Amino acid sequence: MSVKPLEFSRKAKHTPESPISYFMEQALQNPHLVSLAAGLVDAPSLPAGPIAKAIADILADPTTAKAALQYGTTQGYLPLLQKIVNHVASLDGLTPGDLGVTPRDVLVTTGSQQLLYMLSELMIDAGDIVITESPSYFVYHSVLAGNGTRVMTVPMDEDGLIVTELETLLQRIERDGELHRVKLLYTVDYFQNPTGLTLSAKRREELMEVITRWASKQRILVLEDAAYRELRYEGDELPSLKSFDPHNRHVIYAGTFSKPCAPGLKTGYAVMPTELVEPMVRLKGNHDFGSNNLSQHVLNRLLETGAYAAHVLELRKVYREKRNTMLSALEEHFGDLPGVSWTHPRGGMFVWFTMPEEIATSPNSPFLKAAIKEGVLYIPGEFGYVSETGEKPRSEARLSYGDASLAMIREGVKRLRHAADAVMKASRQPVGV
Ligand SMILES: Cc1ncc(COP(=O)(O)O)c(C=O)c1O
Repeated sequence: MSVKPLEFSRKAKHTPESPISYFMEQALQNPHLVSLAAGLVDAPSLPAGPIAKAIADILADPTTAKAALQYGTTQGYLPLLQKIVNHVASLDGLTPGDLGVTPRDVLVTTGSQQLLYMLSELMIDAGDIVITESPSYFVYHSVLAGNGTRVMTVPMDEDGLIVTELETLLQRIERDGELHRVKLLYTVDYFQNPTGLTLSAKRREELMEVITRWASKQRILVLEDAAYRELRYEGDELPSLKSFDPHNRHVIYAGTFSKPCAPGLKTGYAVMPTELVEPMVRLKGNHDFGSNNLSQHVLNRLLETGAYAAHVLELRKVYREKRNTMLSALEEHFGDLPGVSWTHPRGGMFVWFTMPEEIATSPNSPFLKAAIKEGVLYIPGEFGYVSETGEKPRSEARLSYGDASLAMIREGVKRLRHAADAVMKASRQPVGV
């Protein structure tokens, strides 16, 4: 008997396949490939010991064992909410009171990814506008594509999002009569995924001045994705955008324990305007009525005992060395090649690498094919761009030093140079030879 094909929802049809899956597949199929593509964290430094101890301690006591193994509340484990609010405030050298927030303004989520998703469910109808940096975190673009969001972008430079360009964009949107459709501004303001760039102190102040000034016409929520904030290897701590919002009206601060602790715990959080909390908790009730409770109890204990803080200090050393290794390998292997440049991130896991314009880094490009042949993978930069016309920079790449060992980082960059040489040699050959 024949069966009719399934008809998927509009949302399913509009949700693109993750561009990363192809790269994951390549890495799995070819174990000799050095992956500078993966967004995975450094494996050897994952805090197995402290987590084993925290779990053992929790389970050894019948009261904490029962609490941790039972369902929790949708908003999150209250002692953890308290610690999160103190933690975020302390990163700014402030108290929760200075930030205008209490533990009741915190929501624990299943990774910060769930927060990004739920916030778009909460705020955005098809045709609404979200402003992002360009380039930006491509998994978030996929979330936005799924619900028919129009993405408008603001370029970046070495100091992060260019605030004067934001102002110009808002003026244009207003002239077009569409200001009421602008719901969110998304920024990964510390050591951005994918570029490694950071919003400067001056720009932070300017950005919040713009948002606050425009709020009488249109309240644009700032989604401050601080996923990499704690992985800082040099320079002073920069104030969060949240710290410029003392009445807790404009900024949703999205944090995660995935990068500074362990992604397997899959626990993130938001510190947000009070008026968002109840509707978000209702939505989350429909998603999962609460994130993994055991993970929350574990994190609560790691924060309480100081194990978390000690781990972050160690991790900074590990990643600082990896970053230095990647930067010196790039200097060694690409320093002599005109038209090649790369960012010098002060934290995080990513370097943004720019090839001369004539060398495309796109999927299916000769350069990517040559790189795979040489045994190295990167993420084509164009995944980070959204463009209504299809016009995008095509010679950039995201290089990650998160997962690869020091030796693999060196080897990967060397192979990348071999791939560049192969492509340049081929392009110099006369046609037909
Ligand atoms: C910028 C950014 N935001 C959010 C996330 C989501 O991480 P998680 O859901 O593990 O907290 C990631 C993960 O790579 C990221 O790079």
